Amino acid sequence: MTAQTLSIRPLSDSCGAEVTDIDLARISDTGLSDIRRLVAERGVVVVRDQDLSPQQHIAFARRWGEIDYNRFFPIDPQYPEIALVQKDEAQTTNIGGGWHTDHSYDVEPAMGSILVARELPPSGGDTLFSSMYAAWDSLSDGLKATLSALRAVHTSDHIYGPDGVFAKTDIGATLRGQDAHTHAVHPVAITHPDSGRKALFVNPAFTIGIEGWTREESQALLQYLYSRAIQPQNVARVEWRPGSVAIWDNRATWHMAKNDYHGHRRVMHRITLAGSPLH
Ligand code: SIN
Repeated sequence: MTAQTLSIRPLSDSCGAEVTDIDLARISDTGLSDIRRLVAERGVVVVRDQDLSPQQHIAFARRWGEIDYNRFFPIDPQYPEIALVQKDEAQTTNIGGGWHTDHSYDVEPAMGSILVARELPPSGGDTLFSSMYAAWDSLSDGLKATLSALRAVHTSDHIYGPDGVFAKTDIGATLRGQDAHTHAVHPVAITHPDSGRKALFVNPAFTIGIEGWTREESQALLQYLYSRAIQPQNVARVEWRPGSVAIWDNRATWHMAKNDYHGHRRVMHRITLAGSPLH
């Protein structure tokens, strides 16, 4: 299979693509290279009409490289590679409900994730993605030059720690790793390891400041960058259907899971792909 034979529909001008007519369980090496390229270019690719078993999900993920085992989410006891992104009928809090970049708190942030829809609510529960290439491209040359010299500090402690955001919610008891501490410093603007494009690499969930700046100074700059990042033209919406699989690149996107389906169950299986230090 070559890139020419993939059936691709862009999800928005700058972010996301939908692919049909491929079978991820049986995709050739060439087909996989084409999907990899598309994920790096478009940030997220949603593939429709798949029928991946958990074993096939794991086998497909291993073809991308190492699996990054998530420390915090519930896991499938049979398959520790698979993190459960789950919200039940009686719960009101969801996982991933604010804009974020998975695992940016790690020294080697995860490359991306492969999310398989297992149980969907009758409506709602979409996932939004925003292009960090487009966010970067939207800035002036002067601000880009300033940002290119800056590094930002990331952690998950205020989210998953014992006093963190989730601790007092109705999904707090289902999470793991409350004692884990994370700390990483990454450039504010990275060069994407595969596409070579510049991308903004700060996010509202896990970035806590600019290295060497006060909290107040950091927040002023970060809030401005976040407002640029979620301009409507940067954002794509993945509307889930049974059999949908989304593959995204954390170096090129943010994402957030809409929490607009109270009273219904939504179960997604996520495998996170290991990444590398960012420059
Ligand atoms: C996540 O990985 O942040 C969750 C995405 C989703 O549930 O749609």
